[in-house]
Amino acid sequence: MEPAAGITERLLERLSRARRLVVLTGSGVSHESGVPTFRGRDGLWKKYRAEELATRQAFEFDPELVWRWYDYRRQLIAEAAPNPAHEAIARLESHREHFDLVTQNVDGLHSRAGSRSPIELHGNIWRARCTREGLTKELKENPLRDIPPRCHKCGALLRPDVVWFGEPLPPSAYERADTAARTCDAMLVVGTSAMVRPAASLPLIAKHNGAYVVEINVSLTPISVLIDASLVGRAGEILPELVDRLLDREGGRKPLIPGSSEKTESPSR
Ligand code: APR
Repeated sequence: MEPAAGITERLLERLSRARRLVVLTGSGVSHESGVPTFRGRDGLWKKYRAEELATRQAFEFDPELVWRWYDYRRQLIAEAAPNPAHEAIARLESHREHFDLVTQNVDGLHSRAGSRSPIELHGNIWRARCTREGLTKELKENPLRDIPPRCHKCGALLRPDVVWFGEPLPPSAYERADTAARTCDAMLVVGTSAMVRPAASLPLIAKHNGAYVVEINVSLTPISVLIDASLVGRAGEILPELVDRLLDREGGRKPLIPGSSEKTESPSR
């Protein structure tokens, strides 16, 4: 593992040479947008118990309490804006032919920053799913008028379209992420504690398949000793510099898909 001495020439060379690049993000990439992480000092799991809010059992026991928590998070996220880390990832994507963004985040900030098709391993807080028919739909009303919200078609409870503890990931999302990890030449792992499987296995799968793996985090994590380099610092500072220097090396190439990292609107208030 290279020292966390910053963006070295070797690191730039390896990332620049990578034909297939994957970026894996966790809640740390949204921290500078004002969205709390889960396990940090001010993390959500410090104030609330995951088991009481982010499980199917909790929802079945008290759907109103769980929806009140998600309504609170949705309001926080609606006030947030993509930060320079999200924007740098979208910019990097527009300069890469083979690029996958895999996120554990449900906040939708990558899409708002211009990322075209993030693989949302844990779902999206702006979608809801009917508990009877299983149909998923956008639910952008903020704040929610009815808590818990119900399906307009059949009247059954809606649930957040997110992955709760103990639930499987959406099969198609995990398959895409797993394939991306197995076939990439390099992976940037940004703002995740690498504690929650199966997402946390993706950097090791990439490494095992020969990829150059770099972590960007304000602190070292359990995978730091298993990957190639750790850049210790805030994603909102490191990523813009890293992308600038990568693109400078590549002649500041024009985006492959002009206008591809246009931002999208935030959810309605
Ligand atoms: N820049 C870079 N990294 C940061 C920043 C920042 N500005 N701020 C915090 N971090 C790092 C923390 O050091 C930590 O390693 O982001 C990570 C956040 O870790 P967690 O709070 O555990 O969040 P995450 O890794 O996304 O959790 C994974 O667990 O609770 C479930 O479903 C939830 O998707 C989530 C999953």
